Amino acid sequence: MSTNKPVVVYGASGYTGRLVCEYLRELNVPFIAAGRDKARIQEVLDRVPGIDTVDHEVIEVEHAVGPLTELFRGAKVVSNMVGPFIKHGPEVAEAALAAGCHYLDTTGEQDWVLAAQARFGDKYAEAGLLLSPGVAQMYTTGEIAANICLETPGLDTLDILVLWKGFPTYASTQTIFTILTADWFYLEQNEYKQWDRQTKFEIAVPGAHETALAVPWGGTSHPVWFKNDPRVANVKVAGGVFDRAVVQGVVDTVKMVDAQIMTLPTEQRDAEMAKIAASVQAGMPPRENPRINTSVDSVHASGPLGRAHCVIHGNSNYKQTGLLQAYAAYSLLQQAPKRVGLASACQAFGHRELLGQLKAFGLVLDPVLTVHK
Ligand SMILES: NC(=O)c1ccc[n+]([C@@H]2O[C@H](COP(=O)([O-])OP(=O)(O)OC[C@H]3O[C@@H](n4cnc5c(N)ncnc54)[C@H](OP(=O)(O)O)[C@@H]3O)[C@@H](O)[C@H]2O)c1
Repeated sequence: MSTNKPVVVYGASGYTGRLVCEYLRELNVPFIAAGRDKARIQEVLDRVPGIDTVDHEVIEVEHAVGPLTELFRGAKVVSNMVGPFIKHGPEVAEAALAAGCHYLDTTGEQDWVLAAQARFGDKYAEAGLLLSPGVAQMYTTGEIAANICLETPGLDTLDILVLWKGFPTYASTQTIFTILTADWFYLEQNEYKQWDRQTKFEIAVPGAHETALAVPWGGTSHPVWFKNDPRVANVKVAGGVFDRAVVQGVVDTVKMVDAQIMTLPTEQRDAEMAKIAASVQAGMPPRENPRINTSVDSVHASGPLGRAHCVIHGNSNYKQTGLLQAYAAYSLLQQAPKRVGLASACQAFGHRELLGQLKAFGLVLDPVLTVHK
C-alpha cells in the first residue's frame, strides 16, 4: 500500500495524538490516524468537533518495522506519539527512515534522544531527512526561551527551569517512571556530566511569591540540543510540576528505586517500574483548561560580560505539544527543515517561528526578557 496522505499520526487514540489531529485539521493538513486499535482511534476522532472537515483516514497497524514501513510509504512526515519512546520508538524511527519520511515525536526522554542520535542520526542526515524527537512543550518551549536569551551574543551558560500544572496521561506516567531508571546528564564545558540522582532544587518561580520543588527531571533534552551549539558550553535544567507534593513523591520514588529496584535484572526492573507507574495513574486526564493548566519556562543565560533572563508563561502543556507537532508537519510539507539528521524543533524550524505559532493559538504570552550587558 502507498498512501496519498502526507502525514501519519501514529498513536492517534492517545491524549496527545488526538490533539495533533485537531491541530492538523486547523492547519488543513490531510492525515492518516494510525494505531494498534482502529475502533479506539475512530471513537476518539468521532469526539473531535469538525473532524470531517479535514481529509483523513483511520488505519490499524501492528507495532513492527515491516507493517509500519508499509503504512508510511507515500507519506512525508511521521508524527509518533507512542511512548515511552526508549521502549517503543526504535521500530517507528526505523520504519520512517525506510519509507523516506521525516520523523517527529513528543519525547521528553533524554536517553531516547541520545539513543536516536546514535542509532539513526547519520542515516537520516544521509537520506536528507529530519529526525526530531521531542517536538513538544517539554522541552521546545524552554528551548525557545533559551534561544531568545542567546540572541544576545556572548552568553555561554544556560540555567533552565520548566514547570507545568496538570495531570500526566497514562503514557506520560509510564514515561516518567521509565526515565527514573536511566542515567541523566547535564552539560559542563561541552561535556556530559552525570547528575547525582538525589539532586533536588528549591526554586524561585517567576511570577510567584511561593517557591517550588524541582528535580533534574531526567536531565531533559536541552543538554543534547545545545551540546554542539558553539554559543553554549554549560546547560543545567530543573523541572517538575507546580504541586510540591507530587515532586516530593518523585524525590522519594527515586530514593526507593535506587535502593530496591536498580539492583534487579533489567527485565524484572522494567516490570516493577511499569507496575508502580500503573498504580499511580488514575486514567485519562480531563481536557485541559487554560485557567488551570499553566506552564512556566524560564531561562537565565549568562556569560563573562552579560546576562539575559527569558520567561515564557503559557497554558495547556498537551495542547502546546499537539500544535508544535502539527505545525512541524505542516512546515515540512512546504519547505525543507533548516537542518537534517538529528535536530531539535528550534534547530529545524526556528525559535521565533515556533513562538509565533504558540502565540497565534493562544497558548503562550509574549516572552518577558531582561538583558544586562
Ligand atoms: N514532552 C512533552 O511535553 C510531552 C507532551 C505530551 C506527550 N508526551 C509523550 O508522548 C507520549 C504519548 O502521550 P499521550 O499523552 O498521548 O499518552 P496516552 O494518552 O497514554 O496515549 C498513548 C498512545 O500510544 C499507544 N500505545 C501505547 N502502547 C502501545 C504499543 N505497545 N503499541 C502501539 N501503540 C501503543 C496508545 O494506543 P492505545 O489507545 O491502543 O492504548 C495511545 O495511542 C508519552 O510518552 C508522553 O510522555 C510528551
